[in-house]
Amino acid sequence: MLNRPRRNRVSATIREMVKETTLRPANLIYPLFLVDGENIKSEVKSLPGNYRWSLDLLLSEIQDCINLGLHSFILFPSVNEEFKNSTATYSYSSKNFYLKAIKTIKEKFPNICLISDVAMDPYSSDGHDGYVRDGEILNDETLPILGKMAVAQAEAGIDIIGPSDMMDGRVEFIRKELDEEGFKNVGIMSYTAKYASAFYGPFRDALDSAPKEGDKKTYQMDPANSLEALKEAELDEAEGADYLMVKPALHYLDIIQILKQNSNLPVAAYHVSGECAMLTAACQNGWLEYEKAMPETLLSMKRAGADVILTYFAKDYAKMVKNGVITL
Ligand code: PBG
Repeated sequence: MLNRPRRNRVSATIREMVKETTLRPANLIYPLFLVDGENIKSEVKSLPGNYRWSLDLLLSEIQDCINLGLHSFILFPSVNEEFKNSTATYSYSSKNFYLKAIKTIKEKFPNICLISDVAMDPYSSDGHDGYVRDGEILNDETLPILGKMAVAQAEAGIDIIGPSDMMDGRVEFIRKELDEEGFKNVGIMSYTAKYASAFYGPFRDALDSAPKEGDKKTYQMDPANSLEALKEAELDEAEGADYLMVKPALHYLDIIQILKQNSNLPVAAYHVSGECAMLTAACQNGWLEYEKAMPETLLSMKRAGADVILTYFAKDYAKMVKNGVITL
């Protein structure tokens, strides 16, 4: 036998030497849920270990993460029903607690990278990402609302805008609005290939943002399609996106790979709430070992081609790196 692949696996040192993929905490983005109020840390039942934070407590949570080597965060607002309406006006109101929080967070931690969510659903009385009229989710009528939301977030000090709405043409629309208002260095991480997935359940629980009627299939992509992801990527790139995101991640590793192979932009993968909840549940049952299964899961996305991974496990991963459980 001339070829014995096992020779390259013979010792830990050799295995480390030929390792092809590493995942550093710097590649991770930690999603955080914000609620209005004080002294609130309420666990999301369907996503154990994740909380809706009031700003005061969130600030110490962010400090904690920074101490672990985690510096990038994506922030989502859980909005009281009374502030929701059909045109999501609260999303760009100067009274919006989310915008105020962005300002405070960036003042306290100027060096972190803070990413926003741009979509109507947390603020919409219809629970949809776009403007609804007679049961139809209108595209072009939604764009100005998203534009106002993005500019308001940029004014508050956000580093990167995250349009998660899947309306056509929104990246270009937002890019032009930002540039016109003087925010040319604020980036756009576009949810490029966002699928109409069953794995967003715990997130919608966290924000109480599920659609009141119908589903999101006229704007989010069909899980059966991959050529369509290339089409979306081509458009987002032409419209000025700085990152292309695939969402969900774990069930769409093939999409991550084709986007990576077909674009020079960094590819982000959103390891969504339901995907994280599955693993957490199996580990809580003693069916999987968290400290092994979790890093293997994240590594699969990096290996597929993700440069950046958004995951609810980011803090635990950073902790494991810090404690030497994971070597880079
Ligand atoms: C909504 C949005 C969703 C997520 C991020 N932004 C849910 C949806 O489209 O219904 C899901 C994230 C997750 O499940 O972790 N604009």
